[in-house]
Amino acid sequence: MTTQPATDRPVVLITGALTGIGRATALAYARQGARVIVSGRRDEAGEALARELRALGADAAYLRADVRNEDDVRRLVEQTVERHGRLDVAVNNAGTEGSPAPLAEQDAANYAATFDTNVLGVFLSLKHELRVMQRQGGGSIVNLSSIAGQVGMAGAALYVASKHAVEGLTKSAALEGAAHGVRVNSVAPGPVLTEMFERFTGGSSDAKAGITGAVPLGRGAQADEIAQAIVFLGSEQARYVTGQNLAVDGGYTAR
Ligand SMILES: NC(=O)c1ccc[n+]([C@@H]2O[C@H](COP(=O)([O-])OP(=O)(O)OC[C@H]3O[C@@H](n4cnc5c(N)ncnc54)[C@H](OP(=O)(O)O)[C@@H]3O)[C@@H](O)[C@H]2O)c1
Repeated sequence: MTTQPATDRPVVLITGALTGIGRATALAYARQGARVIVSGRRDEAGEALARELRALGADAAYLRADVRNEDDVRRLVEQTVERHGRLDVAVNNAGTEGSPAPLAEQDAANYAATFDTNVLGVFLSLKHELRVMQRQGGGSIVNLSSIAGQVGMAGAALYVASKHAVEGLTKSAALEGAAHGVRVNSVAPGPVLTEMFERFTGGSSDAKAGITGAVPLGRGAQADEIAQAIVFLGSEQARYVTGQNLAVDGGYTAR
């Protein structure tokens, strides 16, 4: 636990924080003594996570927000600033795999569902976070991309396209934020052993082994291994890093 005065501890906002990578990131920040706002769409799970973080000694609260809804996102950022007076780090983690299928079998409804969360959600989050951070003269934003933001994947074109869009938003936001001292980067995980990976593979051990077997390090990541990269990019240690994508993929995109 940190010995920093409470008001010097970074204020960290995480979207889609109730499971997987978001949850692991919240726990990592809580262990550092950060002031953590966890956000999601399920109030009971959100309040339970906030209690868990407070039990670790963190100042933590849950705020409800569906990132597809601009009023939710505006309120989320406003309430964070009302509570703590500032926003130092934002982790735009909420995401969906949609309904993966070959393009010839895809439809506009799945396009909209995938892009509404992964692209509109990140755009709206960036918009409201940047307003605060630019006004206060600093901050760091980390978006969740994927190896699907780097390479194509048969059977997952809409998810792939949405994560490529996240990388475009990241680079452009970094250029806009730089003059105000705001850094914007993304993290691109390979397969991470979360609920999303379970859904993506339909829970099939063969499908899981097929994907993790293609990772040079020979395994899927634990959510905390992604959280550590997010915490690094959010921190002062990465103060000269902006507009970049950090692949945390066991070597998947090194080929
Ligand atoms: N797991 C992987 O292999 C992998 C690899 C590369 C990148 N990623 C990316 O990492 C991020 C986290 O994924 P994960 O693996 O931790 O999966 P996860 O456990 O399914 O987490 C995704 C979280 O986002 C939330 N969410 C979805 N749509 C939302 C919305 N419209 N508004 C607010 N919250 C929303 C979900 O909440 P609900 O429970 O309410 O749906 C869930 O808590 C995603 O952006 C994902 O694309 C994951």
